[in-house]
Amino acid sequence: MILVTTAGKIGAEASRLLAQRGAPVRVLVRNPEKVTGLVHAGVDVCQGDLEVPATIDAAMQNVTSVVLVSPAIPRQELNVIASAVRARVQHVVKIMSKASADSPIARRRGQFEIEQGLIASGLGYTLLKNNAYMQNFLMMARAIAETSSFGTATGDGRIGHVDTRDIAAVAAAIAASPSAHMGKTYWPTGPEVLSATEVAAVFSRVLGRTITFHSITVAQQKQGMLDVGLPENVAEDNANAVALMAKGDCDYVTGDVATILGQPPRSFEQFATDYAAAFSRQLVKG
Ligand SMILES: NC(=O)c1ccc[n+]([C@@H]2O[C@H](COP(=O)([O-])OP(=O)(O)OC[C@H]3O[C@@H](n4cnc5c(N)ncnc54)[C@H](OP(=O)(O)O)[C@@H]3O)[C@@H](O)[C@H]2O)c1
Repeated sequence: MILVTTAGKIGAEASRLLAQRGAPVRVLVRNPEKVTGLVHAGVDVCQGDLEVPATIDAAMQNVTSVVLVSPAIPRQELNVIASAVRARVQHVVKIMSKASADSPIARRRGQFEIEQGLIASGLGYTLLKNNAYMQNFLMMARAIAETSSFGTATGDGRIGHVDTRDIAAVAAAIAASPSAHMGKTYWPTGPEVLSATEVAAVFSRVLGRTITFHSITVAQQKQGMLDVGLPENVAEDNANAVALMAKGDCDYVTGDVATILGQPPRSFEQFATDYAAAFSRQLVKG
């Protein structure tokens, strides 16, 4: 049995892909009513909370492999690692970003703490240190739909955006067959680096109308994220990450997705095409 620790963007897709390939898969969720589609796809849904170790232990029964993905609060992910040790799990795929003890971004310091806990646990592991997600643009979907423009503080910084569906596919492939990936770190990215101006050009081409980009300050970027409902600490972290992106922090691509999946990662054009409805005026309600 493979346990996926949440059913967000990556966890839901990884669970669906694992069920599709016939692997026994369970997902831990706080609210099963939100994931009835996964039940229909053949995923075993287990109610729990990463804050409550007993519920993680219940979900961990008969599990050999874990896809560890969550908002990455160290206490919660260390709860999962401790439970996996108790259950003698063989392998953990850890979804993460860049991580270091001295990062200016609190989340990256937390990711480092989790990474160290996982390595010290003695469990088999694979680390996926992902570049920025294309799906982050969905936070700006309404603005793009209504104003045909978006603001970002990334300036001229180029980013190797990666589609979360590809991260999910990589995680699923590794969890289903971990032996070749034990102890390895991968740096999944999309196929190209794009500046905000280049992203606007892709949106214009795909959506059939001109989409423009305007520079905003890091403080304005943070306010924009608060406005779409992100918690203060997450908005603060994301804004700090955006400030680093402007300085080239995400300006790289790797061949890791293609190496693991045997096919290239989705392009930004593919992402914009698949999610075109979310960025389109006539479909915005209310
Ligand atoms: N965004 C980026 O550009 C980026 C780049 C690199 C790496 N990452 C990493 O990607 C990871 C996030 O993955 P994601 O985008 O798939 O996450 P996501 O879509 O934000 O989903 C998070 C999920 O966690 C669940 N959750 C939250 N607290 C929980 C708890 N206490 N117990 C059980 N479930 C809980 C939420 O469920 P509810 O529905 O119950 O709230 C939600 O389904 C993080 O580690 C982040 O650092 C992000």
